[in-house]
Amino acid sequence: MTLKFPIYMDHAATTRTDPRVVEAMLPYFTEKFGNSASRNHKFGWEAEDGVEHAREQAAQLIGADAKEIIWTSGSTESNNLAIKGAAHMYARAAEGQRGRGHIITAAHEHKAVLDPCKRLIGEGFDVTFLTPPPDGVITRAMVEGALREDTILVSIMWANNEIGTINEVSEIGALCHERGVIFHTDATQWVGKMPTNVDADNIDLLSWSGHKIYGPKGVGALYVRRRKPRVRLEAILDGGGHERGMRSGTLNVTGIVGFGMACELCQKEMEGERERLFKLRRLLETELMSRLEGVQINGHFDRRLPHLTNMSFGFVEGESLLMGIKDIACSSGSACTSASLEPSYVLKSLGVGDELAHSSLRLSLGRWSSEEEVRYAIDGIEKAVNHLRTMSPLWDLHKEGIDISKIQWQAH
Ligand SMILES: Cc1ncc(COP(=O)(O)O)c(C=O)c1O
Repeated sequence: MTLKFPIYMDHAATTRTDPRVVEAMLPYFTEKFGNSASRNHKFGWEAEDGVEHAREQAAQLIGADAKEIIWTSGSTESNNLAIKGAAHMYARAAEGQRGRGHIITAAHEHKAVLDPCKRLIGEGFDVTFLTPPPDGVITRAMVEGALREDTILVSIMWANNEIGTINEVSEIGALCHERGVIFHTDATQWVGKMPTNVDADNIDLLSWSGHKIYGPKGVGALYVRRRKPRVRLEAILDGGGHERGMRSGTLNVTGIVGFGMACELCQKEMEGERERLFKLRRLLETELMSRLEGVQINGHFDRRLPHLTNMSFGFVEGESLLMGIKDIACSSGSACTSASLEPSYVLKSLGVGDELAHSSLRLSLGRWSSEEEVRYAIDGIEKAVNHLRTMSPLWDLHKEGIDISKIQWQAH
C-alpha cells in the first residue's frame, strides 16, 4: 500500500465518515427527504422510520432502551442539556436552603462540561472541580470524599480526550446510585470504541457524538435513564416539543440515520478494531521509547484507551516539533488562545510542567490506520526530535549529567 500524506493520526479530534455510513444517509437527502414530525404522509413516515431505526441502533450500542435516546447536535449540546437540564430540574428550593445545590466534576474534563458548570456557578450552584492525580484517573474514593448532603449531580467523563485515561465510571455510578445523586458521563471518546452498558455501569445520563465514531458531524445523542431512577431534565430549547419535550427542533434526519449506522458498525467491529489498534499503539510507543531518551507517556499507563497516546519529548521545543512532523496530522499539548500558545490545561492539571506540556503530542489511531503509517510516524518523530536536540543547549547540559531543574539562571 502506498502512503497518502498527510497521515491522519488525530482520530480523537474527529474521524472520517465511514463510506457505509454515507451510503445509508444518501437516500435521506433525496427521495426520503421528509420531516420526521410530519404525521400525515409517506414522506414523514419514511423519515420517522429512519430516525427510529437509528434510535434502536444507538440504544443497542450502550445497552439502553430506544425510548431513552434523545437526539442532539453533538456532545457539546448533550453535555449542556445533561448538566444544565439536571441542575435546573433538581435545584434545591431557594427558601430555607443555602445555595441551589452542589455539583461534582473534574478539572481535566472537556470544556463542554467545564463551561456549563461554570455558568451554573453564576446561577448560584456550587461546583467542586476535583484535581486529578498525576495518573489522571478519577476514582470512586475521590468523588466520595467530595459528596455532600446537597450534591445533586456528578459529571465525570468516561475517557479523557487528551490523554485517554479511563475513570472509575461504573464505581462512581454505583456510589451515586447509593446516595441518590444523578450521574452523568461524557462518553464521547469511549462509546463505540469500548463496551458500554448503561445499566451495568450505573449511568443516568450519557453523552456521545457522531463524528468521533465514523459518523457525520453535527449529530449526537444523550441517553436519559427512564427507570431506577427516572431522570428528568429541564429543556434548554423551547419549541415544538420534539424528543419528549427535552429537545425541540426538526430532527437532522440524514445525520441521525448516519449516526445509527455508525453505532451499528462500531458494535460489530469494536472487538477486532480495539485489538488491532492496541497493537499499533504499542508498536508506536515501544519503538519511540526505545529509540529516544527523555520520552514520557502522560496519564495512567494501563487505564487508557487502546488507540490513543499522549507523549512528551523532553528538550525539544513544541512548535518546532510540530513543524518537523508536518506530514503527520496530530494534536499538540498546546492550545492556541487569542494571542499565545497556552500549555494544555489537562496536562497541567496532572502536574506536567509547561515545557513538557508544550512538547507533547497526542497521536490517536483509527479504523484506517495502518502499520506502515505507524512506522512512518515513528521514523518521522525520531528524526525530528533528534534534529531539534542537536540544536538544544539544554540537551547538551543534560547529556553532561547536569540536572537543569537545579540550575539557578541569572538575569543580567
Ligand atoms: C470528551 C469530549 N467531550 C465533548 C466533545 C465535544 O463534542 P462535539 O464536537 O460533538 O460537540 C469532545 C470533542 O472534542 C470531546 O472529546
